[in-house]
Amino acid sequence: MSRSERTDKSPYAQLADVMEQYSEERSTGAVVDYQSYSELQDKLKNIDLDEGSQSWDSLWKLVDTYLSYSVKTAHPQYFNQLWAGQSTPALVGSVVESLANTSMYTYEVAPVATLIETEVLNRFKNIFGFSTGEAQVTTGGSNSNYVALLLALHNKFPSLKNQGLQGLPKVSVFVSEEAHYSMDKAMVMSGIGLDALVKVPVDRTGVMQTEALSQLLQESVNQGRVPVSIIGTAGTTVRGAFDDFNAIGDIAKAFDCWFHIDGAWGGAVAFSNTQKQFLEGRDKADSLSWDGHKMLGVPLMCGVLFVREAGSFDRVCNLGDTSYIFHDGAQRQDLGPYSLQCGRRVDMFKMWLEYVYYGEQGFEQRIDKFMTLSALAEGRILAEPSLELQSQRWINNICFRSIPSAGVDVNAYNKRIREKLYQSGNSLVNIAYLKDDLTIRLIITNKDVSEQDIEEFFDNWLATAITVQQELQQCA
Ligand SMILES: Cc1ncc(COP(=O)(O)O)c(C=O)c1O
Repeated sequence: MSRSERTDKSPYAQLADVMEQYSEERSTGAVVDYQSYSELQDKLKNIDLDEGSQSWDSLWKLVDTYLSYSVKTAHPQYFNQLWAGQSTPALVGSVVESLANTSMYTYEVAPVATLIETEVLNRFKNIFGFSTGEAQVTTGGSNSNYVALLLALHNKFPSLKNQGLQGLPKVSVFVSEEAHYSMDKAMVMSGIGLDALVKVPVDRTGVMQTEALSQLLQESVNQGRVPVSIIGTAGTTVRGAFDDFNAIGDIAKAFDCWFHIDGAWGGAVAFSNTQKQFLEGRDKADSLSWDGHKMLGVPLMCGVLFVREAGSFDRVCNLGDTSYIFHDGAQRQDLGPYSLQCGRRVDMFKMWLEYVYYGEQGFEQRIDKFMTLSALAEGRILAEPSLELQSQRWINNICFRSIPSAGVDVNAYNKRIREKLYQSGNSLVNIAYLKDDLTIRLIITNKDVSEQDIEEFFDNWLATAITVQQELQQCA
């Protein structure tokens, strides 16, 4: 039965059916029923929408089409992004959150949500080592990194709040050359511009070179710039590398700048006793971003920014005439004044259900499983003569490529294999670049993936590689 045929039921009952059916389909069949952009445009155009009819038939047809051509991100052959899978407790939280539809700004309109968010953040502050500080839910890692940069700027220049950038000296901000692009955006959005962003070289494992960092900081000071912030990364986007937070913390102190850790991806290792050593030195950081929707697999979005010094958000975000909304500021029950947003979703309810259901131990097991499966994947790459591990593995990012026969361009070859694999719907993995070298970035972060799924991925990859090699030989 297609999803659109269930018209005799109430929309809520039909929705329950759709959810039930999709939760069975999402891990079987193809990862995606691949359509080119124009093919999909045609498919959507051909749906008889019966616009304005207030009939549910058209809507269920749209739902059907939406799900039929969406990428199954909970499929065990989906390794494409830093998030994957679906967990039912969190999904229930997400649906219920939409059902009650409220905004996180005041206790008045979000009483339970305010208490839950406060409780979850207090627990997470302890886990992430910010127990005496504060935390704010954000729309994700990019937003957290941006707010952290604003906090750093305001910390350095308190006059910024009223006078803006006018009259400020030239500043500089330091990130590793493999930091996430959200830092570039944050520089532009904060008004200090890309010229002030210094990209520090990394070593061959993807870690920021701290000697180079010190040198670049000194050069910047010599040029009359004021260093404002150093951003270290906990789990870089491509290689999953962790910077040396102890060393960066000391350097930040010596140069009197804010030290932020972008742990949007790898910060989750805080839940694992065997992995959390990667975060050593985080106690020296002024702030840390983390996304619950990445490694832990809670539905998007679920970002958190932790800050060492309580009162930081108040200084930067609590502004303007809010008398229409925050009626009893003295009680400090409302969470809205400390956010960059006004309206804000209840992103912590889904996390709360997930946390209550699985517990910290469950989160730890999830992360440890990713590491075990990643070691298995690494072993398979090392054992296959036609595959090459391109960078040392840190966590659950695995960077590899196929080696073609002589005379074939290695980047084009790997790009073609991954494209073919994607369009076949057998497996979906991503590409990235390590300098000029294209790399296949395999991310193992679906809690339901098994050893067999990993083996199947490599079987699919290797079979596609043979086909592409044959195609190239025929063309030659
Ligand atoms: C290290 C890192 N920081 C920040 C982000 C941005 O996170 P979001 O997509 O939640 O904005 C990403 C996204 O992949 C990331 O890998």
